[in-house]
Amino acid sequence: MTVYAIIGGTGLTQLDGLTITAALNRETPYGVPSAPLLRGEYAGRDVLFLARHGHPHRVPPHQVNYRANLWALKEAGAQAIIAVNAVGGIHMAMGTGHFCVPHQLIDYTAGREHTFFEGELQHVTHIDFSHPYDAELREKLCSGLLAEGCAFSSHGVYGCTQGPRLETVAEIARMERDGCDIVGMTGMPEAALARELALPYACLSLVVNPAAGKSAGVITMAQIERALEEGMGKAKAVLARVLAA
Ligand code: HPA
Repeated sequence: MTVYAIIGGTGLTQLDGLTITAALNRETPYGVPSAPLLRGEYAGRDVLFLARHGHPHRVPPHQVNYRANLWALKEAGAQAIIAVNAVGGIHMAMGTGHFCVPHQLIDYTAGREHTFFEGELQHVTHIDFSHPYDAELREKLCSGLLAEGCAFSSHGVYGCTQGPRLETVAEIARMERDGCDIVGMTGMPEAALARELALPYACLSLVVNPAAGKSAGVITMAQIERALEEGMGKAKAVLARVLAA
């Protein structure tokens, strides 16, 4: 059976219902992951869980050691990765509380350690990244969302910004012209690093606010936290479905 790793984002720093059998503190050639990797049983199968921002939540998106996180998960035996993240909604369909299983992404980040292929290399490697997300895993997430009765979009373009600040109205307008449907800060380089390690990867994105300029007011943390509280419970139910299937 495939060993799944779940990378929990904001609002998902722990996985209730996970019977923990080990907490692995791994040093990798790239440093230490955001938190101990939790190995355990969830929905009747072996899973790995990692809190992307640490537990408690303290590592901001631009300072997450994505390379250490992915390397440690691979080394611990992960065979596929489900990444959960909170996003802002750009497209009209992406209202607060809506889920999206993105099929494409655009990377707007800068200065992050984004590849394993550097330093003393035997040869130069260019991975194919035409389709950044694994189709089979995306389908599983969509089936889980359907079974849980969640409002969701089975496709979407994820735009990844550097953060930690939110975007300007003009930046979101540009991202919309680029074709982005949702905006988040953690989708990259995570997806690319997973591909470099040949790990199938897909995202379960929860919209927690309208992106800048997409609502009348300013974006508040209180609004985001409210949406996280309501939505992450559903996200956990979806994960349990996917893993039990
Ligand atoms: N922008 C970027 N990242 C986010 C947002 C947003 O509006 N909401 C949650 N993560």
